[in-house]
Amino acid sequence: MMKRYYSMALGAVACASVLRAAEDGAQLYKQNCSACHGVQGEGAASGTFPPLAESAWVQGDAARAIQVLLHGLEGPIEVAGRKYNLAMPPQGAMLTDAQIAATLSYVRTQFGNAEEPVSVEEVVAAREWSKGRKDTWKAKELLEHYPLPKEVSPIESLVMEVFHGDWKVLPEFEQLESVAFEEEQDGYFSLRHIKKKDGFGIVWTGMLEVPESGNYRFELDADDGARLVVNAVEVAHVKGTGPMGKRRQVGEVALEKGKQAIRLEYFEATRDAGLSVRWSGPGIKGKQWLSERAHKGGRAPAAVIDLSPKGKEAVLYNNFIAGTTPRAIGVGYPEEVNIAFSTQHCAPEIMWRGPFINGGRHWTGRGQGFEAPMSSYSVSLAAKKAPYRYVREGEVDWSGTSEVQFVGYVLDTLRYPTFRYRVDGNEVREKVEPSVSGMKRKLEVVSPGGGKLGIVLGNGSAVQNGRVLEIDGKVVVQSPTEIVRGAEGYHTEIELKKGVNTFTLTYSWK
Ligand code: HEC
Repeated sequence: MMKRYYSMALGAVACASVLRAAEDGAQLYKQNCSACHGVQGEGAASGTFPPLAESAWVQGDAARAIQVLLHGLEGPIEVAGRKYNLAMPPQGAMLTDAQIAATLSYVRTQFGNAEEPVSVEEVVAAREWSKGRKDTWKAKELLEHYPLPKEVSPIESLVMEVFHGDWKVLPEFEQLESVAFEEEQDGYFSLRHIKKKDGFGIVWTGMLEVPESGNYRFELDADDGARLVVNAVEVAHVKGTGPMGKRRQVGEVALEKGKQAIRLEYFEATRDAGLSVRWSGPGIKGKQWLSERAHKGGRAPAAVIDLSPKGKEAVLYNNFIAGTTPRAIGVGYPEEVNIAFSTQHCAPEIMWRGPFINGGRHWTGRGQGFEAPMSSYSVSLAAKKAPYRYVREGEVDWSGTSEVQFVGYVLDTLRYPTFRYRVDGNEVREKVEPSVSGMKRKLEVVSPGGGKLGIVLGNGSAVQNGRVLEIDGKVVVQSPTEIVRGAEGYHTEIELKKGVNTFTLTYSWK
């Protein structure tokens, strides 16, 4: 009640100044918004309330923010990389259309936001669209009508290489051997994937899409050190160790329109880790993030994000998976069978049952450093080396090696992959057919010369009747040909004829 009375008084003040050419957005903001969102849009009460600075909620289509003002907003939301679950009271009854337009025009052009101002007509139309609405907007419901603009990183083909070591200054990464290598699929510099707390370094390389020729400004901050190189020019260097804030560096460089090489070196010695990279210049609205915002300082808390398939489609996960080679493709099938297909060895190397993978927690490193399957009911099918041996004539030589090359994969309409690879000139297409009882590996081998293909099946414990292998007491493998024990583990050899050969390996849960 008190509140309503107060806002009516405000309305009266605004009426008195109705002859002014335009409403004063700055003044309105200060009166009606700053108590909760902060004078600089930073989010009041030390960030308890969400910021309007660089908020995707005020960017793009203005109708979203207009609706927030008209009817309020409640429920879980994410703003600038942080989560909130609060309620904002409606302002629509106490603010006129012109006042809402002025307030939002101010918000959209201040605090680092660089959006178009809002016209009174837009507010009139928005009020009409939602007239009769009595309830506060639930965030989810509003976003169905007005989804947040999707940020697209200007960096393409971004890959990161991870190093371990104790440094006080940036090391010569070129002289070191990396422990892991990963593609940053969303194109942002991010520490999200690093589980190791201290003593690591990262080198990212990618291609930066420069929208126009001109001078660009880069801001770099890091805990501990970092160096940014664009187009072979060192643009900024945060030297030594220490927290973020005071050590921030800014550099300018002239760039030509088009794709320019970008390289960022970073290391973390001890305590907190953090990284922030932004750029601005011709063709860019305000300052654009090149690093993940959640890492402006410190690290986002690890959340459990269960990536298990929710519908009929399989889910693919291209990242580190414990128990296989660094480059593996995880596939979660709706049948609750999951595999990790090593693209180095060209074989499913882990098979597990139940939930797929937790995509929220994620780490890198050697051995202990990869994401594990979410279920403990998992079985290793891995061979030490590439599991294939091929001979054109004679006996398969298990001490030798064969050349195994991953070619790629194709997805069917339900996103079930067919993997394609080559074993010494034989073209293989492999599709996993999952079922509640396990899976079938269906292999099609196009062989130019015929011969014998040996396949390691893993380290089993018991071979019954020659063609059945039990692994870990959890899974039984059936092969069309005899299974033999050798130094490589248990293997089988398939006779290939010239042309197309098909065969199936069946894996059933015990
Ligand atoms: C009483 C406190 C309060 C006032 C006053 C207030 N807000 Fe909010 N606002 C909130 C809260 C709390 C949320 C988050 C609601 C949630 O968690 O779903 C929010 C969310 C928002 C959002 C979407 C999220 C974001 O941070 O971008 C916008 C836009 C917004 N407010 C704009 C405004 C503007 C403009 C005004 C002034 C006309 C205003 N608010 C006044 C508390 C307030």
